Formats: sequence, structure tokens, C-alpha cells
Amino acid sequence: MSKTRKILVPIVLLLGAIQFIPHQHPQGVADTSAKIVIDNPEVKNILDKACMDCHSNETKYPWYAEVTPINMWIDGHVEEGCEHLNFSEWNTASASDRAHMSEEIVEVVHEKEMPMLFYWLIHWEAKLTDAERQAIVDYFNATDPKSEPVTSESSEDHEDNEHDD
Ligand code: HEC
Repeated sequence: MSKTRKILVPIVLLLGAIQFIPHQHPQGVADTSAKIVIDNPEVKNILDKACMDCHSNETKYPWYAEVTPINMWIDGHVEEGCEHLNFSEWNTASASDRAHMSEEIVEVVHEKEMPMLFYWLIHWEAKLTDAERQAIVDYFNATDPKSEPVTSESSEDHEDNEHDD
């Protein structure tokens, strides 16, 4: 056996073997009542194509997402993405949490941190144009729930019990 074969054969066998590890993607909740409502079709379309796979319970998995260990890698990103921001559960968040998330969205889209590089390399349509980024920034700036009078926020600011004396 050549040197390359000595290395390749075990790798191929191992890759074959790990396909038998049972694996299930995290199950999304079918309930859509708490899903974010975007009243701007352009913005909705951008979020659908560039964010929802990782930041909602409606991930559309490509065929290779069934291949171990790619599935583990993808699921890790979806789980982590949803921990930070889940558009499917947007309406269950408090007004101040939504305000905070809006700020983060504006920030990561403006800084071109999202969608992640590897994602749009695979999903070419998710590579956003400057105009698309601006549309997201404008939308989440304008609908920032902070602009509504939030009474609980002022009391939170004056919480003194975290002082260490
Ligand atoms: C391939 C999966 C993926 C896609 C697509 C994606 N994200 Fe993320 N996102 C993540 C992960 C993973 C994290 C947490 C780790 C990190 O911040 O890098 C995250 C974090 C975030 C955060 C929190 C940042 C912080 O500092 O806490 C925001 C806001 C966000 N994403 C918005 C978006 C928006 C808006 C889009 C679409 C334009 C998008 N993401 C597309 C995976 C993704």
C-alpha cells in the first residue's frame, strides 16, 4: 500500500462508520405565534434568506446536513445562533430584551459580522448587498421598541442591590 492509501483507507472507513451514529437535528417548535412579524416585505425576504436558518426554529437543512460530522457542526451553529437570537420566539421576549436584540442586529449587520462568512459562501444568495444591509439597519432602528415608553426600564436602571460595599 502506498503512503497515501495507508492514510486514506482508514479515514474513509471511519467516515463510513460514523454515519451510523444516530443523529437528530434539534426539533423546532411548530408554534409560530411568537414569531417576529415583519411588516416590510423586503426586510422579511432578507431575514428569510440570510438569518432564519440559524436564528429561528425553521431551519432548512441541506442534504449534506445529514452527513456526520457535518450535521454536528451545523447543529452547533444553529443551537448557538438561537441562544443569542431566535426570531421564532421574538414576541415572548420583553420590550427591553427586544430593544437590546434590535440593537445587536443593527450592529452585526452593519459591521458585516452576520450572516457568517462560511454561510454565505455556501448560500450565495445570503451575501447581502449594501442596500440590503441598510434596509435591515433602518428597519430595526425604526422599530426599536425602546422608542416606546417602557416604564420598567427606568426602575431597572436604579437598582442598587448589586452594589458591593
Ligand atoms: C450560519 C448560521 C448563522 C447565520 C446564517 C446568521 N447567524 Fe447570527 N449568529 C450565529 C451564531 C453561531 C451566533 C453566536 C456566535 C457569534 O456571535 O459569533 C450568532 C450571533 C448573532 C447575534 C448576537 C451577536 C452578539 O454579539 O451577541 C445577532 C444579533 C445575530 N447573530 C444576527 C444575525 C442576523 C441579523 C443574521 C442575518 C443577516 C444572522 N445573524 C445570520 C449564527 C448565524
